[in-house]
Amino acid sequence: MFEDVALAPPDPILGLTEAFNADPNPQKINLSVGIYQDDRGVTPVLGTVKQAERRLVETGGSKAYKPIAGDPAFGLHVRELSFGAGHELVTDGRAVTAHTPGGTGALRIAGDYLKKLHGAPALWVSAPTWANHQSVFESAGLAVRTYPYFDSAKNRLDFDAMRIALGRVAAGDVVLLHGGCHNPTGVDPSPEQWKEIAAALVERRALPLIDFAYQGFASGVEEDAAGVRSVAGACPELVVCSSFSKNFGLYSERVGALTFVTGDAASAARVLSQVKICIRTAYSNPPAHGAAIVSTVLGDPALKRQWIGEVAEMRERIHAMRALFVRTLAEHGAQRDFSFITRQNGMFSFSGLSNEQVKALREKHAIYMVGSGRINVAGITSSNVGRLCEAIVSVL
Ligand code: LMR
Repeated sequence: MFEDVALAPPDPILGLTEAFNADPNPQKINLSVGIYQDDRGVTPVLGTVKQAERRLVETGGSKAYKPIAGDPAFGLHVRELSFGAGHELVTDGRAVTAHTPGGTGALRIAGDYLKKLHGAPALWVSAPTWANHQSVFESAGLAVRTYPYFDSAKNRLDFDAMRIALGRVAAGDVVLLHGGCHNPTGVDPSPEQWKEIAAALVERRALPLIDFAYQGFASGVEEDAAGVRSVAGACPELVVCSSFSKNFGLYSERVGALTFVTGDAASAARVLSQVKICIRTAYSNPPAHGAAIVSTVLGDPALKRQWIGEVAEMRERIHAMRALFVRTLAEHGAQRDFSFITRQNGMFSFSGLSNEQVKALREKHAIYMVGSGRINVAGITSSNVGRLCEAIVSVL
């Protein structure tokens, strides 16, 4: 059976880290996968995470299975973070949350649910979008279409084209939006544009599905929920896929959440019962540790305050690296205006480098970035920025 199996291509993002790890060049730089690094190039375990882990070791008495949808307390914390403490969707039963293995787990279970319960509606993603979105939803059996998003000539949101395309989606179609820190462009809608997007989806009777993976990496933990809250305020139904990989640094713990906002508590209970079947038949029930850490931190006001500070520290370092990167490119003689990089949000910068330039950086300089020209700014440090900019200028 296995003799004639074709070799699959490496993953466009995670495959690069495999190639990076195998590269013997001591000066290699990995700016591919979206992982935060501090100025020493280390992906730290947050202080609040360590404190929560210590508490869990002292108090956690069991490794018994978790409920299929995870601990209800975790779900409450997720809704509080997404919609705001005191929001009706936190406790009124109209919104339900399942704990999933990472944000990707949430996306895939959402896809499985939409295929099984709603006849595989068309799902619209921005052009460009995260390299894995299309594959996740196609693997679930949905037809993936694209709407315009990015104006690469002006390095900004092409809102007019986006708005026109959203005005044409069919009733019952699903529209995937990035809750903030758009991956890969780093370009987000303004508060006013979020309102227009929500209104367009209401008018078309389309279902918003928000990938919310970078809360806290644009302006602040509360501030970055504005888009999600705008959509939740206007649209009667929506789906939110949250990830805690980045803002808690819990990449390898695979902690995410899938929240369905429905019209009433009875619909929500029925939806959750179906989501549980999708989960049970995919991975049975979620891994406990990451969600227990998130619940411990968010459930303790002092730890939560400290965590908000830690997210701010990561965000501010990335902002500082954006400015340093642009300055250093100019110092090395770059003729192109890269100042747009300082206006982008989150971890990524859509640099405008071509696929050939990305290839040359990798082959000649051992600098790894995604083929689309996406750079993980969080991988830039004050010690590698000089070599990076010199190399970029040499391939421009
Ligand atoms: C990324 O875009 O680099 C991250 O979301 C990590 C991943 O799984 O691709």
